[in-house]
Amino acid sequence: MSLLKVENISKSFNTLQVLQNVSLEVQPGERHVIIGPNGAGKTTLFNCITSHLPINSGAVYLEGKEISKIPSHHLVHLGMSRTFQKNNLFGNLTVEENLHLALASTKPYKFQVFHALSTYKDLRKETNEILEQWRINDRKDILVNNLSYGEQRLLEVLLAMASKPKILLLDEPTSGMSPAETTQTSEMIQSLPRSTTLLVIEHDMEVVFAIADRLTVLHHGEVILSGTPEEIKNNELVKEIYFGGGAKAHA
Ligand SMILES: Nc1ncnc2c1ncn2[C@@H]1O[C@H](COP(=O)(O)OP(=O)(O)OP(=O)(O)O)[C@@H](O)[C@H]1O
Ligand SMILES: [Mg+2]
Repeated sequence: MSLLKVENISKSFNTLQVLQNVSLEVQPGERHVIIGPNGAGKTTLFNCITSHLPINSGAVYLEGKEISKIPSHHLVHLGMSRTFQKNNLFGNLTVEENLHLALASTKPYKFQVFHALSTYKDLRKETNEILEQWRINDRKDILVNNLSYGEQRLLEVLLAMASKPKILLLDEPTSGMSPAETTQTSEMIQSLPRSTTLLVIEHDMEVVFAIADRLTVLHHGEVILSGTPEEIKNNELVKEIYFGGGAKAHA
């Protein structure tokens, strides 16, 4: 069974049809990358999969269970986590505090408003484990606003991984990064455990082919091809609309 199945979803904003009958399947453990030109509908597709936007028709299934109408904040409890194209961190809090918050949001129980999250033992323990696992203990007291841009984007991935999701959706994890930060992020993504399936929107072709087991090409809101990296590279239509014309490759 596919871990994630997107079945014939369509989405429009008033008269603008952004997604048309998009179908996609992601197998457990797979690293699936979505590419396509600017405005192709990639982020909208993520927003529909994660219920940040209602879909007009079609359905989304996680492990065979329909999730199309489940509110986005509940999906984390079912094993779906994501990052955003623009960073979604609390800049005036430290790395450690951001981790506390990310972990708290994955817990089914309620927290007392006037109790600092750091007073919850299990949150402290899990936070320390993550800080150690990613060797960022020495960065834990730094305000997120004082981290470099690359560090902030990497932190977002760590926060999204905090819930140990079955599937993690990353929207352009390397956008705006320097070449060195891009390489670091690509390596970090490759080092993520296979127990977390990945669906990634990416524009840097080196990163795309370094991480992808399978790719889906989106163009004007339609899937024009899903296949292995070799199949995508050798497809004439993809070459023409995506790599062709001397246009700068951008997913
Ligand atoms: N909330 C919205 N309301 C109206 N139109 C929207 C909305 N979100 C996206 N769009 C439009 O939908 C189309 C697809 O946008 P989307 O952000 O999904 O593209 P994308 O493939 O992620 O592009 P990029 O590579 O630039 O990130 C664009 O024409 C965009 O202007
Ligand atoms: Mg986008």
